[in-house]
Formats: sequence, structure tokens, C-alpha cells
Amino acid sequence: MSRFSFTVNATDGRARTGVIDTPRGQIRTPAFMPVGTAATVKAMLPESVRATGADILLGNTYHLMLRPGAERIARLGGLHRFMNWDRPILTDSGGFQVMSLADLRKLTEDGVTFASHVDGSRHFLSPETSMEIQRLLGSDIVMAFDECPALPATEDRQAEAMRLSMRWAQRSRDAFGDRPGHALFGIMQGGVIRHLREESAQALRGIGFDGYAIGGLAVGEGQEAMFGVLDYAPELLPTDKPRYLMGVGKPDDIVGAVQRGVDMMDCVLPSRSGRTGQAWTRRGQVNIKNARHADDPRPLDESCTCPACRGYSRAYLHHVFRAQEMISGMLLTWHNLHYYQTLMQGLRDAIAAGTLDTFVTGFHAERQQGDI
Ligand code: GUN
Ligand code: ZN
Repeated sequence: MSRFSFTVNATDGRARTGVIDTPRGQIRTPAFMPVGTAATVKAMLPESVRATGADILLGNTYHLMLRPGAERIARLGGLHRFMNWDRPILTDSGGFQVMSLADLRKLTEDGVTFASHVDGSRHFLSPETSMEIQRLLGSDIVMAFDECPALPATEDRQAEAMRLSMRWAQRSRDAFGDRPGHALFGIMQGGVIRHLREESAQALRGIGFDGYAIGGLAVGEGQEAMFGVLDYAPELLPTDKPRYLMGVGKPDDIVGAVQRGVDMMDCVLPSRSGRTGQAWTRRGQVNIKNARHADDPRPLDESCTCPACRGYSRAYLHHVFRAQEMISGMLLTWHNLHYYQTLMQGLRDAIAAGTLDTFVTGFHAERQQGDI
């Protein structure tokens, strides 16, 4: 009896809300997963990440295999113990990060050889080695090894990358084997070309996965083209399994994706922009660097209950950012993650109540007002 399951509790239009049950706890969907690339959500303690409302974190095979190494993490009791987060962890498989970060890449049918961006050392990743590394890490949700081509690319190139990814998906499935309590997700590719997306979905369904990701989006095609794909892609996938949109996004991307039937997302945006002085609020984006905040005694968002908004003024947040104090990244990251998780809770509640359209109208109306 597998201890990994997905239950849809309510739908509203194409949107769904439900729960993924895992041995490490429940994941409420639609879910936003903060990114903990190098075994840390930067500037946050794990208990603080949990306090924002996160049920699951994302980790990266690519970074962890290079530093500190998967075998070392396994010897130290696995990634959960290592980073002091005992709830679910999803790990990306490495192919996407190799293509964007590594040097001297050589791609063959077998896998990818590359040089580490950390120290130049040579490494090899394939479906089989990626499954082994994610097993050593102790990941709860393992991602299939795929290739996401850099855009713009010709249709032939995109077809070739998608078909390679589908052969790798089968090899990932075979190498993963049967691991009760752990899940393997396939990744759909095919760029913005509908018949390639259909072919990819067909191939993944034929193999059979515990969940299905939509990859190859948010790579520079723009929101309109991304929503164009999301208008049909989720429905090509099984309704009884989670659908995960990889690497998305801004708050309005998330809302649009959830409306189109996406259950899970991840993005570095709330944590990364917290360290560069960008805050996300229900009124849109706020740049705390801006001189207009220097004497402002008000909180970032008077309706937000996060520590940054309950205890500190905009003037203080502006000052610590300008002075490059560590607390700046800590407070803004906390606020941003809190805002994202509050948005997810609002979406879940609205779907459950059948009021998603009203919620989305309110979401856009508040943003329209701008930061005031
Ligand atoms: N992260 C964002 N997009 C992708 C993708 O297409 N594949 C993988 N593996 N990770 C991603
Ligand atoms: Zn706040």
C-alpha cells in the first residue's frame, strides 16, 4: 500500500483544491513550494519557513551533488535531517540546472557530462544517476530527468528535446523502481507547440507517474504564451494526479495557473527578490530601496501579519537594506513568503467556496490601486 496519495476536495471551473498525503505530512493544494536549492531557503530558519504556511520545500539535485555531495548527505541522515526540515521535500532532477548553470556541457542519448560551476570538476548526470542521487538525498517527490531546451529554438530542436525527455522519463521510471511513500513525477515538454505537448502528455501517461509536471515554461516566452499553453496542457494530464508547473512565478502567474488547473508551483522569486530589496504585497511590487520610504513610519502592508510588517516600519526596512544589514534579507524574505502563502490559502479557500472568480477580480483590483 503506497503512502502517497492525492485527493481533490473541490473544483471551481478548471481550478482544483485538495491534499497530497505523504508519510512526512500533508501538502495542501494549490501549493507554493519555496526554493531551498542548497539545503536552505536563504535567510530563513526552517521553522520560519513553516510559520509562513509552507507544507513542502524544493531542493536541487544539481547543487547538492556538487556541494556538499549526495553521499555525504546520505551518511549524515538524509536531506531532511541535514537541513532540519522534517516535512516533504521535492527535488528537481538536475537537467534544467545543468543547462542553465554548468560549463562545458556535452549532451548525448545517455545523459549530460558537464563541469561544475563551483570548482570546474567533471560530472555526469543521466536518468539513472539522477534517480540514485535523489534517493540518497531522501527526496519525497522525485522528478524525472529531462531536457528543457533554451528558447528560442526551432520546432525540430524542440521536438527532439521533448522526445529525448520522454525516453529519459521511461528510464527514470525504470531506475526509480517501487519505493512506497516516495513519488516520481514525469515532466511534460514541448515548448509552446501544441502537438508536441500532446505527444509528450501521451508518452508520460503511457509510462505512468504519481504526478505530472509541466516543464519548459517561464523560460522567456511571456505570460500570454504561457497561459496559451496552460489553456490546454493541464487537461492533457490525468485528473486524479497532481499537476506541477515548474519555476512559476509572479503572483499573477500563479493566480492564472491555478485558474487553469495547476496544483503545485515553485519559484525563487519571493526569496530571491527579498534579498534584493523587492517586496510583493497585495498592492503589487514595492522597491524598499526607493527614497520615498526613508521617513515612512508605516509598515510595508498594514494588513499583513508577518514579523516584518508587525514590528518594523518602511523607514527601518529601507535603512537596513541601504546599510546592507543581514536582517534586511531576513525580513523581506519572510514577508514575501508569507504573502505568497497567504495568496495560496486565499486561492484554496475560494476554490472550496466556489468563489474563485470573485477572489481573482479582487486580487487584480487591489493590485490596480498600486502601492499607496
Ligand atoms: N524548472 C523549471 N522548468 C523546468 C523544466 O522544464 N524541467 C526541470 N527539470 N526543471 C524545471
Ligand atoms: Zn508582511
